[in-house]
Amino acid sequence: MRLLITGASSGIGRALALVYAHDGASLVLLGRDAERLEATARACLDAGAQEAETYVADVRDRESMAGIVRAAYDKRPLDILVANAGVATGLSPGQILETPEAVRAMLKINVEGVFNTVEPAIAPMCARRSGRIAIVGSMAGVRSLPYSPSYCAAKAATHMWADSLRGSLAPHGVSVSLIVPGFVKTPMSARTKSWQPGAMSDERAALIIKRGLDRRRSVIAFPLFMYAAMRLFALLPPAVVDGVMRRFHVDVPETPEREIS
Ligand SMILES: NC(=O)c1ccc[n+]([C@@H]2O[C@H](COP(=O)([O-])OP(=O)(O)OC[C@H]3O[C@@H](n4cnc5c(N)ncnc54)[C@H](OP(=O)(O)O)[C@@H]3O)[C@@H](O)[C@H]2O)c1
Repeated sequence: MRLLITGASSGIGRALALVYAHDGASLVLLGRDAERLEATARACLDAGAQEAETYVADVRDRESMAGIVRAAYDKRPLDILVANAGVATGLSPGQILETPEAVRAMLKINVEGVFNTVEPAIAPMCARRSGRIAIVGSMAGVRSLPYSPSYCAAKAATHMWADSLRGSLAPHGVSVSLIVPGFVKTPMSARTKSWQPGAMSDERAALIIKRGLDRRRSVIAFPLFMYAAMRLFALLPPAVVDGVMRRFHVDVPETPEREIS
């Protein structure tokens, strides 16, 4: 089994790499922080990975992402490609408007970054009529929350793209899984100050994701009670749901990310 995972230097991406390492997978790991990325690779090799190549790359760099994904594929076809890298941004109590520069940076990472990761793999996977594409979305993409308007919009965009790709790529032998996590204990969720119902470890989340990918699930959403609640919220009258959501005290700090030239 050969996988490429973005955002492998931390949180869910790192945990997923380790879970596949235990199965002796060949791993292509991407991240920006070279030290943390190398630490993941070492831990994967210790856990039994067949190999763990690392690439320091920013998912916003379309050219460099295309080069890395194609080189990794040409070396040996990828069975699974996981577009996981992402950042969170939102509103702190009393704040009305998200900083436009932070929003633009987040959109480039969470939306364009996913496109930059997935697009280069589509043609070679279709040519071989084999491969799985996994896109990490969020419960925030199922029903928008008032605490993180642009993050919800970005995740909803990736959900729509994944759903569409699933239909268009299936006749070519390529499957697409949309991963919809609830709260997972990672550096990202640690920055959000809120009640985090159903929060689970990154290791548990990775095991659930692997099980879903092994079964070629179209949507891998967890915990299920939260997915059901978010789907129900999407059906209820918006003003009622907004009113309930506003009762919670939530602080989603702004991302320090800014656009790169
Ligand atoms: N944790 C949750 O509760 C939760 C819930 C729902 C969805 N998610 C989604 O799950 C994914 C992973 O989040 P996480 O919780 O594991 O967060 P995390 O621990 O903060 O890890 C984020 C990863 O994304 C990478 N990344 C960020 N910006 C990047 C960029 N411009 N280029 C390349 N890599 C970049 C980071 O790399 P460096 O650190 O090396 O920069 C890091 O490896 C995200 O898409 C997030 O939206 C998380």
